[in-house]
Amino acid sequence: MDLTYRPRRLRRTSSLRGMVQEHSLKAADFIYPLFVHEGANVEPITAMPGANRWDLDGLIAEVERAWKLGIRCVVLFPKVDESLKTEDAAECFNPNGLIPRAIQRLKQELPEMTVMTDVALDPYSCDGHDGIVSSEGVVLNDETIEYLCRQAVVQANAGADLIGPSDMMDGRVGAIREALDDEGFEHVGIISYTAKYSSAYYGPFREALDSAPRAASAKPIPKDKSTYQMDPANAREAITEAQLDEQEGADILMVKPGLSYLDIIYRLRQESELPIAAYNVSGEYAMVKAAAERGWIDEKAVVLETLLSFKRAGADLILTYHACEAAEWLQER
Ligand code: PBG
Repeated sequence: MDLTYRPRRLRRTSSLRGMVQEHSLKAADFIYPLFVHEGANVEPITAMPGANRWDLDGLIAEVERAWKLGIRCVVLFPKVDESLKTEDAAECFNPNGLIPRAIQRLKQELPEMTVMTDVALDPYSCDGHDGIVSSEGVVLNDETIEYLCRQAVVQANAGADLIGPSDMMDGRVGAIREALDDEGFEHVGIISYTAKYSSAYYGPFREALDSAPRAASAKPIPKDKSTYQMDPANAREAITEAQLDEQEGADILMVKPGLSYLDIIYRLRQESELPIAAYNVSGEYAMVKAAAERGWIDEKAVVLETLLSFKRAGADLILTYHACEAAEWLQER
């Protein structure tokens, strides 16, 4: 055949393929989510094989392992004792609570590791919602924000580097920015869960924290989070959320979940010059683990291909429970 263009020429050898590769993965792209609990044992999470609820000693050891693999940021989630959960979730700003203690300990032992937090009420709420639920069953916006600000300040005071509001209340990024600045934490950044969808992919995470919405009292409790998290049918709305977060002072924008929302990552990449993070969430992790356990997929190849797809879509950072194993696989290459 008389062909001028033969794209296969540049695919012929491994060296050539490496030379023209457009995107790549490195351990420093990953943000490693970790669950902590009270007590002195490490508890496996059934629906997330390989992930655990760590006690503080175990947490330090795991973060040291991640650091040695080249990971430079972790995000902490608390499994809060049921007895501490209340309707107003006030435990979220207890300066001696589980998360502030974990941050302090981590910063003492590994000061260079970037510590990100999650700001939302759900792990501390007996109703399992990210905000305060009124007696009529409405998740209150402005009342919740006051609590989120106090939570963010307590986390910053404990040593957090990046505050991650995951609650999807309107105006929370600006309010948290102001609260941090007022308390002298102008150097602490905000990584906003900008486009967080009301997704079924969070199931295993809610199991890990026992944080799913539930009726604990007589008041009506919304059974899902669709009055504040985004509708999976919407894409343009994510741009509005991104514009608001930028105006309000977010430093990094996040899309969550990641895999079913690659188009949203791509759109935000076109709209904003800020760094973008993708959250490869618990349900996405569980699906890969389940198929790999059955021998139905090649786990390593599937994970690395998936993580690369986030970079190709336009993400700079990836929150993933696969962080350590992916970093190990990258070293083998
Ligand atoms: C809490 C929060 C959730 C996740 C991160 N922060 C759950 C939710 O919104 O219900 C999900 C993470 C995952 O599934 O991996 N606001």
